[in-house]
Amino acid sequence: MSKQYKRTLITTALPYANGPVHIGHLAGVYVPADIYARYLRLNGREVAMIGGSDEHGVPITIKAKKEGVTPQDIVDRYHKIIKDSFEELGISFDVYSRTTSDIHSATASEFFRRLYDNDRFVEKTSMQLYDEKAGQFLADRYVTGECPHCHAQGAYGDQCEKCGTSLNATDLINPRSAITGNVPVMRETKHWYLPLDRWEDDLRQWILEGHKEWKTNVYGQCKSWLDLGLQPRAVSRDLDWGVPVPVEGADGKVLYVWFDAPIGYISNTKEIYPETWETWWKDPETRIINFIGKDNIVFHCIVFPAMLMAYGDGYQLPDNVPANEFLNLEGDKISTSRNWAVWLHEYLRDFPGKQDVLRYVLTANAPETKDNDFTWRDFQTRNNSELVAILGNFVNRVIVLTHKYFDGIVPAAGELAEADTAAFAEVKAAAAACTEALETFHFREALKQAMEIARIGNRYLQETEPWKLAKTDMARVATILNVAMQICGSLAVACEPFMPFMAKRLADDLRLSNLNWGLIGNADIVAAGTAIAPASLLFEKIEDDAIKAQTDRLDRIKEENKVNSWKPAEQQPDVDFDTFCRSDIRVATVTACVKVPKADKLLQFTLDDGTGEPRTIVSGIAAHYPEPEKLVGTQVVFIANLPPRKLRGITSQGMILSAENNDGSLVLMAPSAPVAPGAQVK
Ligand code: 2FM
Ligand code: ZN
Repeated sequence: MSKQYKRTLITTALPYANGPVHIGHLAGVYVPADIYARYLRLNGREVAMIGGSDEHGVPITIKAKKEGVTPQDIVDRYHKIIKDSFEELGISFDVYSRTTSDIHSATASEFFRRLYDNDRFVEKTSMQLYDEKAGQFLADRYVTGECPHCHAQGAYGDQCEKCGTSLNATDLINPRSAITGNVPVMRETKHWYLPLDRWEDDLRQWILEGHKEWKTNVYGQCKSWLDLGLQPRAVSRDLDWGVPVPVEGADGKVLYVWFDAPIGYISNTKEIYPETWETWWKDPETRIINFIGKDNIVFHCIVFPAMLMAYGDGYQLPDNVPANEFLNLEGDKISTSRNWAVWLHEYLRDFPGKQDVLRYVLTANAPETKDNDFTWRDFQTRNNSELVAILGNFVNRVIVLTHKYFDGIVPAAGELAEADTAAFAEVKAAAAACTEALETFHFREALKQAMEIARIGNRYLQETEPWKLAKTDMARVATILNVAMQICGSLAVACEPFMPFMAKRLADDLRLSNLNWGLIGNADIVAAGTAIAPASLLFEKIEDDAIKAQTDRLDRIKEENKVNSWKPAEQQPDVDFDTFCRSDIRVATVTACVKVPKADKLLQFTLDDGTGEPRTIVSGIAAHYPEPEKLVGTQVVFIANLPPRKLRGITSQGMILSAENNDGSLVLMAPSAPVAPGAQVK
């Protein structure tokens, strides 16, 4: 950023209020945005951080339909959960509002109306997908089918989640209604389109020429969109949930959710700054930064800017759009519908007081340049080996030693030795690197540099060993603890954007007020003579059982998902009747059944097959029948004429039949009523 702006408007993607927020949302958007906002505030810069719930659109109505409640019920429920949990995590929004607010409907309607009045739209009647059974048009997520680009199944009518391409519902191959599962028909309807092609040259100039500094993932996506050539995009929908299209002859039509949602950034600014909101949007001295996930790039870099260009009236475009990639969970894509997520409100319930740990782990592992993985083991390790062992330990040692040798009163420093000035210089260097990383949206690196200050502190104590000097040179101990205390003060400032709860506690314990970023590395952050608080632990170890409870929960969800997504296997190719008849399938009674020693999977069955000679069959079913002796007396079905095979030294004379259930368990086949041993299955 070469230009110095007067103020910064930070927007954060408005989450759909069709579910709570999860760690993917946090790592992608809200934690980095909050770090940035807090960093700017610590620098005394004027900031507005804007958020809110996205309460229109098909994801909401689908959820409402599924639950048999109204869309308003859904958004009321989730808006509250989302807002409360953000607050508890310390996401420092200046406003967190919602797109069902009156101010938003009025703002979005006015926006549409002005574009309409100024001939910025193209009105078009076209054939759209219609579900005759549901009696409605199938916009956006109401229709799924094959993606015409990557050919993934299950692409939505507005976007393919697999390849990220933004779609029109009519582009889908083999579309199906998400409401009834029916194949839709085509029906005529009228809509308003924003001709993005009219803004293509301006967009090209603005992004491709003017913003080469954007992250490569963002710049690259914009470039490929622009290179493909922009098409007009419909900005209205035939739905009954949304902001009504504010023109004559638009009954039953609402604004497309992706038209109204980004206007939410403007409405929410109006809500907190009714008098001065325009300076945040129209003054060239305002820098606008949009924090989003990668699936939102096209809407923030192409569609919304085109809307703002079409509107004119001095609206500024974002100066940067630092979009992140996706966070996975334990190696699998996070999914609201599959409940494969760590939900923020549940985390806050399960780990009370540990907001900073989550913020820390999500930042240390942020998907900044590629998709990344969250695992509960990594969460535990980062807490125990980094927050507890490095940061907490350093601060604790300094506070304990200050109490031990100076009754908790910060001693004055004498003349500084080389080790002392070197430590200050190292802290300053880490602060400079942290600043540089924050200014360029490299939050992982920034956090690493903030933590480096704690490492510097630990090394300093190790090197100067005040506990040894205490016997001989208390004046030197005083200087060392003063220097170490200043490093603690630096940590209270440098960690504030990342871990605001810990930073506040530390600042309170050291009696610091008026933190500001410029203090980091200074020698006079904590005044000599300050009576600090008694030592307490900033972070606690997270034990294995807390982690196991979380991984057990995920294991249960995985099982449930397996059952829910189970489908019968594809039918095998035909066999001719004579071939089938050559299989000799019979019923037998189990006379003995034992585990095969040293073979986890195998059971040895002894069967009465009616011949008078006992038959032995070894079957790989042990995991499903942990008490094999209980099978004695039951009947099984087996193939008698398979050639004998040796398994673990036992000759197996045939194969016992079982069915594989939808949860992967195997169930032995048996006749529905007892039959004579040896009876053939026909
Ligand atoms: O992808 C989403 O979750 C959208 N609700 C984001 C909207 S961002 C903005 F434009 F409002
Ligand atoms: Zn695709």
